[in-house]
Amino acid sequence: MFSSLEEINEEVKKCKKCNLCTQRIQTVFGVGNENADIMFIGEGPGGDEDKQGEPFVGKAGKLMDQAFLGVGIERKKVYIANIVKCRPPNNRTPLKEEAERCLDYLRNQVLIIKPKIIVLLGNTALKNILGEEYGITNSRGKWIEKKGIKYMPTFHPAALLRDENKKVDFWNDLKLIIEEANKNNYSY
Ligand code: URA
Repeated sequence: MFSSLEEINEEVKKCKKCNLCTQRIQTVFGVGNENADIMFIGEGPGGDEDKQGEPFVGKAGKLMDQAFLGVGIERKKVYIANIVKCRPPNNRTPLKEEAERCLDYLRNQVLIIKPKIIVLLGNTALKNILGEEYGITNSRGKWIEKKGIKYMPTFHPAALLRDENKKVDFWNDLKLIIEEANKNNYSY
């Protein structure tokens, strides 16, 4: 059992549980408020994240920051992490086995942060957290409550870069999150 995020991160930095460790520049643990009410979970680091050691700092992250600015979310008041902590080669989707081996770290992050809302960015986050039976197209924009946590699946910001039409849905999903946060006095 871990008692702090730093403790988990020390393990992550040394992790060799899967092959992704062989190609990483560094691990990408997570960033933000350790007591965040809202946590965002993406897929895995890309090239920029691998270089900088922080999630969502590349093109997709910049787009997410713009959306945050638009709806009034402060990056430092929420917590941002990924399913896998090391960059998959050529930014491919993490393999099931890679995700499974890494998930314990994320579960422990969630246990310490205790978010009220978890935003699942894209299919990889959705399927690995809530189950293979879910799909982002059907699930996005709908609350799913499990074990006292409210999950909001939405598109991955990289999907918005490929298809502009998804921006409106992403925006609307963020507004649902803000609405719920305001109702319950959650910080963002
Ligand atoms: N895409 C992700 O899923 N996570 C990141 O940190 C960056 C891009």
